[in-house]
Amino acid sequence: MDDDMRFSTGCVHGPEPFREINTRDVIPPIHMASTYFFDNAQQGGKLFLGEEDGYIYTRLGNPTIKLLENRIAYLERGESAIAFSSGMAAISAVLLYLLKPGEKLIYSEPLYGGTFALFKLLEERFDMRFIGIKAENFLEELKEKMDSEDPKAVYIETPANPTLDIFDIEEISKICKNKGIPLVVDNTFATPYHQRPLEKGTDIVLHSLTKYLTGHSDAIGGIVITRKDMAEPLREHYLTHLGGCLSPFNAWLTLRGVKTLHVRMARHSENAMKLAEFLKDHPKVEEVFYPGLPDCEGHEIAKKQMENGFSGMLSFIIRGGKEAGIKFLNSLKICTLAVSLGAVETLVEHPASMTHSTYSDEELLKAGINPGLIRVSVGLEDIDDIIEDFKRAFR
Ligand SMILES: Cc1ncc(COP(=O)(O)O)c(C=O)c1O
Repeated sequence: MDDDMRFSTGCVHGPEPFREINTRDVIPPIHMASTYFFDNAQQGGKLFLGEEDGYIYTRLGNPTIKLLENRIAYLERGESAIAFSSGMAAISAVLLYLLKPGEKLIYSEPLYGGTFALFKLLEERFDMRFIGIKAENFLEELKEKMDSEDPKAVYIETPANPTLDIFDIEEISKICKNKGIPLVVDNTFATPYHQRPLEKGTDIVLHSLTKYLTGHSDAIGGIVITRKDMAEPLREHYLTHLGGCLSPFNAWLTLRGVKTLHVRMARHSENAMKLAEFLKDHPKVEEVFYPGLPDCEGHEIAKKQMENGFSGMLSFIIRGGKEAGIKFLNSLKICTLAVSLGAVETLVEHPASMTHSTYSDEELLKAGINPGLIRVSVGLEDIDDIIEDFKRAFR
């Protein structure tokens, strides 16, 4: 690891500084070509393909997308990365790669509402089975279900959307290795700045690029980072043939976003900690969920597996139920009521009716998502202005 760049240098240059020999651009151009010419015999080339890994067609590969894939693989300390058109395209590709009809997957409960909806679709249409386990007793139940359910993979989100539950990556990965099945981690909430699951024994890491990695609420994308032996079939069949490729323009925007990832995450995390501390002592707040708070359920595990802080996501339950929640959300002036997360502006939302509306009332209850929960993606504003905005809305 001696030759490795430090994380911040990796965000700007990893795995090697960009060099455009012909034009000397300091930043990479956007390669918008959908197709690439083949050398033909008259030009002294071969009739068919030129170099072994020359580009053919952008769905199969593109120089701008490649730069992004290499940078994220480097930051996650993975061998290979494959970019997709959205986080959901990345998740669908991984699930179809891992599971055949009739096979089972165990997941950490709750998950992002879109992922949960996809599980239900795959159960209905392809006879796959998805078994959720909550944080309270995850390791014991997982060990038990490894024998009784014979799953083909385990899939976790940590910190979880929207409850911020924490799952022990290292321990889960040991249990998966014992059984010889892959562990998938959705690392969207933490980003590699705070957490690198591959270093803890995970086989596949994935992200919604739409969030912190792009960081400015202006592009949708997804990415999977894994070993070469898994990356090859994933790229060849589940990217190329399913077709959910990233646009070169969005790859370029994400590359630009990643250059400031370390600076943004440090501030997101600092701001979130301050807001969590403010909420913890507020009389109108019943409970706050932020892994950085010492009395938060998952704090000890989070401390073990996250570094440089605990990211910028938190949630809380307001006293007075849903009605008080709606009143609060409608009274904010600086914070924006919107789904999505991980951008420079503070976004607030009500999971039960927005990001997690794919859960029925019974499913919300089972997954531990309180109907009065409010989720906050803490932005990069001056946190005192955000706290003032919250105080005003509580009043
Ligand atoms: C944790 C998590 N994973 C995956 C996704 C899906 O990503 P996308 O919206 O880019 O498809 C989201 C979206 O909110 C998310 O929060």
